[in-house]
Amino acid sequence: MSILKTLRNHWKLTLTGLVALFVFSVGVGISGAYVLAATSTEEFCVSCHEMSYNFAEYKGTIHDKNRTGVRAICTDCHVPHTPGPLVLAKIKASKDMYYTYISPSIDTKEKFEAKRAVMAQRVWKEMMESDSHQCRSCHRADKMDVDAQSGVAQKKHAKAKAEGTTCIECHYGIAHTEPSGPAPSELFGKKVAVN
Ligand code: HEC
Ligand code: HEC
Ligand code: HEC
Ligand code: HEC
Repeated sequence: MSILKTLRNHWKLTLTGLVALFVFSVGVGISGAYVLAATSTEEFCVSCHEMSYNFAEYKGTIHDKNRTGVRAICTDCHVPHTPGPLVLAKIKASKDMYYTYISPSIDTKEKFEAKRAVMAQRVWKEMMESDSHQCRSCHRADKMDVDAQSGVAQKKHAKAKAEGTTCIECHYGIAHTEPSGPAPSELFGKKVAVN
């Protein structure tokens, strides 16, 4: 009660405080949005990953260039599309600063190749656990015109639906050179179902 009373007695100060708080929050929101936008461009990712060959390998693949010009860029496949996981992924990605400036881990072709399988497996694990969430933000299984697909695709997709296989189990190595070693389903098992 006494707090309310004090606030009432100092209403001008209270109002100023509230306005300041509002302006501050909007400021934080706007700068947050700027950071998110600036770190979500192809140029931002390529500024480091041009050296690591992932950009060169992706160039010319169907997700970079195709008949209609609709593309998938790095962040479309590598960053979650829901707010909570997106912010978490951005925080987690700050480790890449450490592995760029303090203890460079992929700055030469040899180091990159030595680490490729480990990095690819991180990506696969995440996609297996999320039922290929990133792929599905563009490719909706229930909106695919199966009749327009090739015979083998129709057969495999029907099987995938029946067996609960997810996109990344079959479509890995689609944007970069396929890493050596075991495939996603050999490593992480069949965990999730295709809708
Ligand atoms: C400051 C340089 C830098 C920038 C900018 C950067 N990365 Fe990386 N990235 C790295 C380094 C270094 C690694 C290797 C980390 C390690 O050794 O564990 C890495 C690893 C990765 C991996 C492998 C999986 C993993 O978590 O280790 C993916 C995928 C990736 N980056 C995607 C991206 C995307 C997408 C962007 C743009 C949003 C991006 N990176 C921006 C430096 C960078
Ligand atoms: C930003 C949207 C987007 C995302 C994310 C995306 N794709 Fe695609 N994908 C496309 C477009 C656009 C095409 C080309 C369609 C065309 O022109 O035929 C395509 C084509 C394909 C093809 C057809 C290849 C061919 O040679 O015909 C496969 C397979 C595919 N995507 C799988 C995936 C998988 C797996 C993922 C997740 C790792 C994924 N896509 C993520 C938009 C996306
Ligand atoms: C059981 C393995 C399997 C699974 C799981 C699977 N696919 Fe496929 N998909 C194939 C095969 C095989 C083809 C035909 C060859 C090719 O294009 O790679 C194909 C073809 C495609 C094509 C091209 C179709 C065409 O006719 O041009 C797209 C796009 C595609 N898949 C997307 C997806 C997406 C998105 C998912 C997850 C919802 C998925 N696939 C799950 C095996 C699979
Ligand atoms: C169509 C989806 C897609 C796009 C677009 C894409 N990636 Fe990937 N990326 C993957 C998948 C899937 C993997 C896991 C390994 C694999 O299957 O090739 C991967 C793996 C990686 C890795 C781990 C090392 C390796 O070679 O496996 C890095 C680093 C990476 N991507 C960076 C990038 C950068 C940078 C861009 C943009 C220039 C990009 N990716 C665009 C799907 C994509």
